Amino acid sequence: MSDSDHYREMEKKYVYGTWRYEHTWNPMVVDTAEGVHFTDLDGKRVLDFSSQLMCSNLGHSAEEVKQAMAEQAKKLCYAAPGFATVPAAELGKKLAEITPGDLSKSFLTIGGAEANEAAIKIARLYTRKSKLVSRYRSYHGASSGAIALTGDPRTQYAVGMPGVVRAPDCYCYRCPFGKEYPGCGITCAEYVDEIIRMEGPKTVAGVVMEPIVGSNGILVPPDEYMPRVREICDEHEVLLIDDEVMAGFGRTGKMFCIEHWGVEPDIMTMAKGITGAYIPMGATITTRKIADYFDRPENLFVHGQTYAMHPLVCATALAAIEQYSKYNLVENAAKMGKILGKRLMELKEDHKSVGDVRGKGLFWGVELVKDRETKEPFVTREQKFEPNMLKRISGACMELGVYVVNIINILLVAPPLVVGEEDIDKGMAALDEALKVADREAK
Ligand SMILES: Cc1ncc(COP(=O)(O)O)c(C=O)c1O
Repeated sequence: MSDSDHYREMEKKYVYGTWRYEHTWNPMVVDTAEGVHFTDLDGKRVLDFSSQLMCSNLGHSAEEVKQAMAEQAKKLCYAAPGFATVPAAELGKKLAEITPGDLSKSFLTIGGAEANEAAIKIARLYTRKSKLVSRYRSYHGASSGAIALTGDPRTQYAVGMPGVVRAPDCYCYRCPFGKEYPGCGITCAEYVDEIIRMEGPKTVAGVVMEPIVGSNGILVPPDEYMPRVREICDEHEVLLIDDEVMAGFGRTGKMFCIEHWGVEPDIMTMAKGITGAYIPMGATITTRKIADYFDRPENLFVHGQTYAMHPLVCATALAAIEQYSKYNLVENAAKMGKILGKRLMELKEDHKSVGDVRGKGLFWGVELVKDRETKEPFVTREQKFEPNMLKRISGACMELGVYVVNIINILLVAPPLVVGEEDIDKGMAALDEALKVADREAK
């Protein structure tokens, strides 16, 4: 038995996998990583064309981040959240500086789901209202509240949190209203207004949205969408909660995705890119107005976690955030994103199984269809957890040394922000080859 087989079997026996039938899990054993590549225990080197789970924004060789972690580890790994620490204070200030508008005060936590749990709680405490509007094609995390907001197939086993109302998606390729942009009047945004009116504005605390939907299909809204949702929220005194867990930190060619439309949310949640995945972290930042509310003597901030404001985590995040400006990574995402986008559009020309290509920066989705006329998908929501064509395509890419995430009916192309043109060439060559598998079954 090779080392790889030994550790694969050991992990499968003693550690749960995620979001799958456990018996189907046959993982590669990752051993090392550098730049935009990772290597398994057998020495197979793979191009990371999805930044692991769209989180390794800095690539795998940010030595200064590792250095900062080591230095902080020597000094202080942990202090109870009742204490203040230099890294937490500095990170709070830094987040206030880099986020748009008046976003000012953060709750610092351990992942994206926890960031959204904090947002839910803050929104409900602050507005003294309980309902939340989210969308069907969305993912907000696996914990009880976050999975209840989520509308994708992963929500099916959620015991649920009462008070979530789902809005139709902003999905131009398959418009839920059967309309076509730009003649559609952005009905998907207007319908948010209708939902709030019907539910009763006095009962709706917030609207929770990914500015570009990530794992549910890289759904890029028309330019009018987010500004209109902001207006609707203002009109009804409902908070706009912007989930930037996947789309934030340079991924789309702006530091935060919502900046593409000049919209300022009331609460923003983030994770993944905040540390470039060098250590787990999430954060929930609110406006000064919301912070002021909790500064008043009568208002209790009823939230906390053992690992909130973890000093080692905060120091790592500070070093990671530094990388974005020091190495112009957001600009590189915009620049390389143009090249990647163009190449993906060309791929669509060459492969009849590609129905749609959409994205911004280094955040792209390739949606596959059996038939371009009818847009019949290769994989439906119900088939997400079953063996399917998209999994076969990702498997074929892996054989060619390129890792590409597939979710339901899309391939998610999102390389680290340090990616270069040669890496893009290699990734595209693998996709070009792998898509022939789907072409053979497309009309
Ligand atoms: C938009 C969005 N929000 C929240 C989450 C949950 O983050 P985590 O897995 O760190 O809990 C994810 C995870 O992919 C995400 O994409």
